Amino acid sequence: MTTYLITGASSGMGEQMSRLAVARGDKVFGVARRRELLQAIAGELGDNFAPFVCDVTDKTAVKQVCERLPALPDIAILNAGAGDLDSRREFNLGLHEWTFAVNYFGALYWIGELFPHFVERGRGVFVGIASMAAYRGLPEAAAYCASKAALSIALEAMAVTYKQTGLRFVTVHPGFVDTPMAKGANRPLQWSPPKAAAYIMRGIDRGSANIEFPWPMRLLTGFARLLPAGLYRRIVN
Ligand SMILES: NC(=O)c1ccc[n+]([C@@H]2O[C@H](COP(=O)([O-])OP(=O)(O)OC[C@H]3O[C@@H](n4cnc5c(N)ncnc54)[C@H](OP(=O)(O)O)[C@@H]3O)[C@@H](O)[C@H]2O)c1
Repeated sequence: MTTYLITGASSGMGEQMSRLAVARGDKVFGVARRRELLQAIAGELGDNFAPFVCDVTDKTAVKQVCERLPALPDIAILNAGAGDLDSRREFNLGLHEWTFAVNYFGALYWIGELFPHFVERGRGVFVGIASMAAYRGLPEAAAYCASKAALSIALEAMAVTYKQTGLRFVTVHPGFVDTPMAKGANRPLQWSPPKAAAYIMRGIDRGSANIEFPWPMRLLTGFARLLPAGLYRRIVN
């Protein structure tokens, strides 16, 4: 039996990954702010889903949850995330601060708490849910792209920095997924949350270092990454 800590377990991909894990007999410590949603999921999934109400931007609260965990997780899936569009007319520093608090530090606080315990045990997996938005600066998404790029590159750097510890660092770069974050928008090549969750879990099981989907979006972003900055800026708006 594998024990997971999954942040953002109250909806979307985090909820679906929790459901998949419990369905195959694993245990999940599910973290999110919305107590009622976590409790409803716990009511359905039973004892193998243990809810922990926590705002991931609160370093003290993260520490307290880690101290209360009944067991050290095998795999921490740092999935909680948020985003909002930038204005085209005003610069919004607060949006950057909030987005980094959730998407970047909201993942790193868990690594800070769990890392020494994983090292002491000699194994542990950190999985960060970044985004294909990490690969290039997209219009109206400076804060979101930057926060996901920071998470993605930090995990890759940690993977090479801490090679000798026995820990694994996995980065996930989803394309569009039809979760509440998408607010009902019908975006190109969009996957359902169960499909995305299953793909991510399979990638983790297989030992992948980088999980990206769907493949046409991988091709597209791969091509976009090759474009020189000047050309990219001319054609994207
Ligand atoms: N949907 C997409 O197209 C897409 C694409 C690429 C990457 N992603 C990434 O995938 C991850 C999961 O998102 P999703 O698409 O499944 O969206 P979602 O359904 O909106 O899920 C977001 C989850 O994050 C939690 N969360 C947000 N702020 C939090 C905070 N301050 N403290 C604790 N939990 C917080 C939410 O729970 P509470 O509100 O209950 O706290 C919720 O469970 C995110 O990191 C997102 O950036 C999504």
